[in-house]
Amino acid sequence: MGQFYERVARPVLFMQDPERAHETTVLALKLLHKSSLLCALLHRLNRNSPPRPIKIFGLDFPNAIGLAAGMDKNAQFWRASAAMGFGHVEVGTVTLKPQPGNPRPRLFRFADNEALINRMGFNNEGAEAVAARLKSAGAHRFRPIPLGINIGKSKSADLSLAAEDYLGSFHHLADYADYFAINVSSPNTPALRQLQGHQYLPGLLKTLREANLNRARKLGLKPIPLLVKIAPDLNFKEIDSVLADVLDLGYDGIIATNTTVERPGALSRANEPGGLSGKPLHHRAIQIISYIQKATAGRLPIIGTGGISDPESAGRMVDAGASLVQIYTGLVYKGPFLPAQLARALAPQHERWV
Ligand SMILES: Cc1cc2nc3c(=O)[nH]c(=O)nc-3n(C[C@H](O)[C@H](O)[C@H](O)COP(=O)(O)O)c2cc1C
Repeated sequence: MGQFYERVARPVLFMQDPERAHETTVLALKLLHKSSLLCALLHRLNRNSPPRPIKIFGLDFPNAIGLAAGMDKNAQFWRASAAMGFGHVEVGTVTLKPQPGNPRPRLFRFADNEALINRMGFNNEGAEAVAARLKSAGAHRFRPIPLGINIGKSKSADLSLAAEDYLGSFHHLADYADYFAINVSSPNTPALRQLQGHQYLPGLLKTLREANLNRARKLGLKPIPLLVKIAPDLNFKEIDSVLADVLDLGYDGIIATNTTVERPGALSRANEPGGLSGKPLHHRAIQIISYIQKATAGRLPIIGTGGISDPESAGRMVDAGASLVQIYTGLVYKGPFLPAQLARALAPQHERWV
């Protein structure tokens, strides 16, 4: 089936400009999402029967493979993601205010290297609209797989007011989130990555943690797991500082990594500004995950993402210390059968240590 995608569907999609091809894909997935029956059927077909779900942050994940943030920015096709065989989906990045993102073109393919560069700039409909869509799709009652919601800073919000901005999104979206990913690592919102530094991160994380605990107390629910998504361009000292803040404030995990502003190897002459994803990112993502695993003695669950394109690269990430993995660019190059293939391939690996 993967061969059908690579030989027939991908060449047709790749005749289009990358963002048009993305929109075509989203349109197809939105159609699938609308048919609950078809989604349920495909979900059943694609579900490999795991002996036990993977339990992390108090959630049950049917398999280790998730859809990374950025593909379903507005929560338009999360049911279709479950149907494709994903074990979780992370929608977003959602910002408090709706925003158009950067001018086009802002997405570029480097097919020889199975890579993408994007400078989308958090184009999204805003937290209120995304919450309304999730509500009308019944996401407050039932989600077939864990739904992560990735939140980021509105472009117009000053860094000093970032915590309130994230908090607004948290309040709009909390009823629909199985976990929140706090995105402080996209390279395409000016100054966003500064939020990873000790000057800002503890304040931001504390504000969200307190809101989460208050909400849980008020509603008699468990707090929603909170994770922080980091950049691959941090050095080890900077990672230590993030880890200290994350552990100090009792956060539930780390997502490593976002896209890189570096241009490793064959991409050294790619001069489009933006974040690089796909195969050239893989080595750095693995390095960072191994580092976090060792630095925290495995105390902090890691969701690994960066250049996973086949069972070997997914397995490498799990071996480096990731409990779950996510893909985006791999899906563009390998197609919609990749998640189920990876989930099947990783099942025995997880079975060894659950
Ligand atoms: C076009 C595109 C848009 C992205 N948008 C977001 C985003 O909005 N928020 C986010 O946290 N990560 C975003 N990412 C990063 C991915 O979630 C992921 O961390 C990164 O691409 C590495 O995984 P990959 O190599 O499998 O693509 C985006 C990636 C791509 C390619």
